[in-house]
Amino acid sequence: MEAVGLELLGDNARLLTTDADDDKRRLLAQLRQLDDNYAGGLIKYITNAKRLLQESKEGANPFEGCVPSVPEGERLDFGSAAFIELEDRGLAEAGRTGFVLVAGGLGERLGYSGIKVSLPTECATGRCYLELYVSSILAIQAAHAPAGQRLPLVIMTSDDTHARTEALLNDNNYFGAHATQITLLKQEKVACLADGDARLALEPEDAFRVQTKPHGHGDVHMLLHSSGLARRWREERGLRWVAFFQDTNAQLFRALPAALGVSAARGFAFNSLAVPRRAKEAIGAITRLAFPDGSARTLNVEYNQLDPLLRATTHPQGDANDASGFSPFPGNINQLVVELAPYCAELERRGGVIAEFVNPKYADAARTAFKKSTRLECMMQDFPKGLPLDARVGFTSVNQTWAAYSPVKNDPASAADKARAGDPSHSATSGELDLYKVNCKMLQALGVSVGPPSEAAFNGIQGLEFWPRVVWRPSWAVGFSALKQRLARPEAVTIGRDTVLVIDNPNASIDSLDLKRGTLVVAGSGEGAVADAVVDNDGWTWEPLDPNGDWPEELTIR
Ligand code: UTP
Repeated sequence: MEAVGLELLGDNARLLTTDADDDKRRLLAQLRQLDDNYAGGLIKYITNAKRLLQESKEGANPFEGCVPSVPEGERLDFGSAAFIELEDRGLAEAGRTGFVLVAGGLGERLGYSGIKVSLPTECATGRCYLELYVSSILAIQAAHAPAGQRLPLVIMTSDDTHARTEALLNDNNYFGAHATQITLLKQEKVACLADGDARLALEPEDAFRVQTKPHGHGDVHMLLHSSGLARRWREERGLRWVAFFQDTNAQLFRALPAALGVSAARGFAFNSLAVPRRAKEAIGAITRLAFPDGSARTLNVEYNQLDPLLRATTHPQGDANDASGFSPFPGNINQLVVELAPYCAELERRGGVIAEFVNPKYADAARTAFKKSTRLECMMQDFPKGLPLDARVGFTSVNQTWAAYSPVKNDPASAADKARAGDPSHSATSGELDLYKVNCKMLQALGVSVGPPSEAAFNGIQGLEFWPRVVWRPSWAVGFSALKQRLARPEAVTIGRDTVLVIDNPNASIDSLDLKRGTLVVAGSGEGAVADAVVDNDGWTWEPLDPNGDWPEELTIR
């Protein structure tokens, strides 16, 4: 390995001198580590890189000759009878599911100095994303897992997030989970490439250190394979599914159970949770591709590849909306439900390696030199690229985006710019407001009188809907059927405009309530019911922050 590695580093003069032995050892240790961290080693990495860079240089079209169409899947209205039926079925399946959170991303667009999973999901309780995820899994475990089964959660971290994720769990006693049921798997960075011949790029300030960058969230498949976890979940724990999700989507457990239900009902080996996608929106499109040899696959096609593909084939107008006002192709939100048996077989067959790509920014017309170093990347949604052709791959689209997907990705200024351009702002503001909205809509669907929402401009975003701030613990209710059981007489419950309702007591129920004004917190742990209650108080209000004040970052970004 050493000889090839050094040759690939090029003719750096200092490498040939004899007075830098410590530095050479340091370099060698790093090369060994890069070799260990990549399935097949550094030589395999460089071989893959050479092939992909050559294809990139030639401008190869990966979809040459493919004919796209809309794949099989389910489109559901949140809270409809069909949705609730699939959610019930999915919750039963969720009791046989391993959960995987990818949380190794840098979050550069958000610019938050902490880790994203430590952000509050909303201000009414201040509970962070990781707590919401863990407590949702524990609630599903209590209601739907076989007795004694602890549902596992894997968190993929990176050097940027690992220590702080570990500390967050330790400081909070694993949010009530058993320490053995949460496993952190750290993804490692890969070597950067200096040119089209895949020579390794050295740090500008250190000739004995190779530049490295993240390989992407597709690493999660390799880690589930190399750790042996996926196989053990299937063989020793009898689990049937694995569900992948991202670091900041408080809506996850409002939509994921229905997707699990769809996977079970339709026999999907791989099912992408999706939302309606506006033409040219910067999210991938779930697309069926028919290949010239007669075979076909359903894959995620990135938005910048979709338009040329459609223009060259079936849709001369390219990536355009249809009569529904949306693209006919569902938008991938990277919440994935995968059947464990075919998943494990595929990991075994490919040694955990998934499709990679390279995206160099060229500095010359001949496409040989780069503006800055590049690296191979991989994305978790590309897993189906290698699945056997008869594996059923589909989607579950929730027609109401706010009910399924409201991630926190952008800082306030970029969020406002996006909103002005008509795109989703995906900010801490929208993430919080959509969580209240989905909770209110669930209550409304069951017959509770809620709202209406107030409208306001906030953080430079116009027309935001402020629903009553309604939050409950997952142990109180996950899913419509559980929520229904908590409400003896939904028609006797009214939640007024701009009020706050926090249900912290996992054993309480609500019989009759008129929340006219202000705030009601249902605390404690007794099994009583809120009955004949009329609430009218000054409660909690939203106060704009003085921009010059010294506020915590968690507040200023929302
Ligand atoms: P994002 O698209 O949100 O990217 O990742 P990011 O890196 O976190 O944020 P930016 O682009 O720098 O602003 C989607 C999900 O994939 C995870 C993220 O943590 C998030 O949950 N991810 C991303 C990884 O786990 N590893 C990676 O290498 C990249």
